[in-house]
Amino acid sequence: VTNGGLDRSIVLVGMMGVGKSTIGRLLAGKLNLEFVDSDEEIEKAAGMPISEIFERFGEPGFRDGERRVIGRLIAEGPKVIATGGGAFINDETRGLIKEKCRSVWIDADLDVLVDRVSRRNHRPLLVGKDPRQVLTELSEKRTPFYQEADIHVRSDSGPHARTVNQILEALA
Ligand code: S3P
Repeated sequence: VTNGGLDRSIVLVGMMGVGKSTIGRLLAGKLNLEFVDSDEEIEKAAGMPISEIFERFGEPGFRDGERRVIGRLIAEGPKVIATGGGAFINDETRGLIKEKCRSVWIDADLDVLVDRVSRRNHRPLLVGKDPRQVLTELSEKRTPFYQEADIHVRSDSGPHARTVNQILEALA
């Protein structure tokens, strides 16, 4: 598969633990595009882990950095970008993505998210909390925003490659 003349970045949005980075990497391989993870890029730019950014600058400081980094990634040229779960909730970041990219909402059942985040809990919004409760609340708040994405796919079970194929079909 070539990238079919894709001139826009493909931006993956959706809840923590849904598999945006794994799916994004596979998708980028299929489309011959560069893959980037916005959380990793924010950590590189700030020179510290996300958890420390939250501690030192709070969530607003993190969102600010997130918006700047995503803006820079988009401006660099077409790629596949996996975003952190809250990126598309920020009005400015969402506006930027909607204007300049194709957005893909990856969605899964709560049980799947809880299971996936529980394997590796490094997420500041979940530290010391019941992940099911936090994810339930966030998902309720965030779903109306995620629904604004151009494409909607599910990733409940089965190999991520299947979700990648669904995205490829929807992009064609
Ligand atoms: C967040 C999700 C995280 C990371 C930060 C905040 C969120 O990314 O950006 O911890 O608000 O949902 P993942 O979705 O990759 O876990």
